Amino acid sequence: MKVTVCGAAGGIGQPLSLLLKLNPQVTELALFDIVNAKGVAADLSHINTPAKVNGYQPASKEDTQAITEALKGTDLVVIPAGVPRKPGMTRADLFNINASIVRDLVANIGRTAPNASILIISNPVNATVPIAAETLKKLGVFNPKKLFGVTTLDSVRAETFLGNLIGENPDNLRGKLSVIGGHSGDTIVPLTHTNNAIAKKVDNLSKSQYDEFVHRVQFGGDEVVKAKDGAGSATLSMAYAGYRFAENILNSLNGTSSSQEVPDSAYVYLPGVPGGDKLVKEKLNGATFFSVPVILKNGEVSDFVNPFDKLTITESENELIKVALGGLQKSIEQGTNFVTGTKL
Ligand code: NAD
Ligand code: LMR
Repeated sequence: MKVTVCGAAGGIGQPLSLLLKLNPQVTELALFDIVNAKGVAADLSHINTPAKVNGYQPASKEDTQAITEALKGTDLVVIPAGVPRKPGMTRADLFNINASIVRDLVANIGRTAPNASILIISNPVNATVPIAAETLKKLGVFNPKKLFGVTTLDSVRAETFLGNLIGENPDNLRGKLSVIGGHSGDTIVPLTHTNNAIAKKVDNLSKSQYDEFVHRVQFGGDEVVKAKDGAGSATLSMAYAGYRFAENILNSLNGTSSSQEVPDSAYVYLPGVPGGDKLVKEKLNGATFFSVPVILKNGEVSDFVNPFDKLTITESENELIKVALGGLQKSIEQGTNFVTGTKL
């Protein structure tokens, strides 16, 4: 299987590419970046695993050969390209720079590798995924089942923070919690009652412990931005999270399905997946992109777990969802409008 990383020389791109190089299912790893892609590729290529690693770096702004070569025949493209936050910024402040980076990379995917699964990490995810969708639509190659906004870091954080609070190994919480909504502040909604044993422990927490848990999941990114003090945002935990979701895709391409109680979520265009349109109309107030647990087959969404039908949602979680929907609508419109009227 060929995997392409766009933004491979960055803070996320490098450790993510390392993790992908260690996966024996990957036979070819294409590392694309506007700087240092060849250096990172040369370094990783010495690791004694099967994946052949190549670096692709454009010689100039006009050079499209590097990206075309990087994408040719690829099965999976992961995009952590773009600028990260500095203290005092929101993810939305990254829109002006990252919107066109994502649009242009995705346009190249649409032209060269329209059948690849696409994982968008670049922020603001709530808007960059609609940008990607609109770009692919314009090119006439949009497959909603293969476009994913990576929200896995929110689940990773929820598992860690809750595990520490209730005295459970955080790794055992994978699949026993679910995080839905979007990927930014109060659009992130952790669901803590999907597993009975965990729900009981959550019910034993004090209100302030529970509120702090929710706040940390929603604003965990800010903790890292503050601690890095101008040197960027989460990179290593994100590389782990991005790899975790990429591995889900690779496993599905190899015919293996998740054995988790609740599979990992991703931010997807719901009207494009079976049963999604009904959810958008009945429960999401028209928000067409939403992160839900996705069931994967052959690199695409074959089904999803409808949280309102299949998972227990508490009253306070329902309130969180209402708040999340307001924020999401604006970002979805912003992303969609950015591409409408632009020439690709
Ligand atoms: P970084 O600045 O360390 O790396 C970004 C890389 O992208 C750089 O190497 C840069 O050269 C490259 N790049 C820029 N323009 C490019 C282009 N047109 N084509 C290819 N590569 C290009 O930043 P980072 O810390 O790795 O973060 C990257 C993005 O991921 C940011 O937008 C950040 O907000 C986002 N992020 C998302 C999540 C999430 O949960 N989805 C988590 C953490 C960070
Ligand atoms: C995160 O959640 O850590 C990322 O989205 C990066 C950020 O800007 O917080």
